[in-house]
Amino acid sequence: MKKLIGLKKTKVAVFISGTGSNLKNLIKFSNKKNSPISINLIISNTKKAKGLKYANQYNIEKKVLNFNNNKINEKKNLDFLIKKEINFICLAGFMKILSKNFIKKFKGKIVNIHPSLLPKYKGLNTHKRALKNKEKFAGCTVHYVTTKLDSGKIILQKKVKIKKKDTVNSLKKKVLKKEHQLYPAAIRKIFS
Ligand code: GAR
Repeated sequence: MKKLIGLKKTKVAVFISGTGSNLKNLIKFSNKKNSPISINLIISNTKKAKGLKYANQYNIEKKVLNFNNNKINEKKNLDFLIKKEINFICLAGFMKILSKNFIKKFKGKIVNIHPSLLPKYKGLNTHKRALKNKEKFAGCTVHYVTTKLDSGKIILQKKVKIKKKDTVNSLKKKVLKKEHQLYPAAIRKIFS
């Protein structure tokens, strides 16, 4: 990935659908002087996403876009991101599947955080499935987004030990805490 020239930060859009704890964490990271990115845009597929509040809190532009991918929406969304000079996209709890064409247009420039040790447990309900299978470890992965769901090249992973007393909720909390360490580390790796 492109090296930093001087102090110019890469303009990033973060896509969310929910709480936005990873978004908040990425904003804090981006505000560090030596961070390679700036968060210029928060995109959600729903106006109900709680994380949209961070747009006001941190004075970042936000926009709700329609990701029901017909050609018209897709073009509108792409045009909007290009107009805003977005060069890189971080998916952070974004629960829509991006169209093949959208991914092609941002080839190698979209990353996602997923709550499992990929390639294990792609898709939804990762913690429930890991517990059911009596896994010893859970964790999270930051990976490039390709047209195959949760299958792009892995950038970084972090493991969490599963304890006997763990529930879906306790595991979710533990993994989320690791996610907040992992995403900035993965961004640093990409831009180093
Ligand atoms: C995170 O655990 C993230 O890994 C997961 O959603 C949560 C969002 O939390 N993403 C996926 O499941 C994507 N398939 P947040 O809104 O607090 O960042």
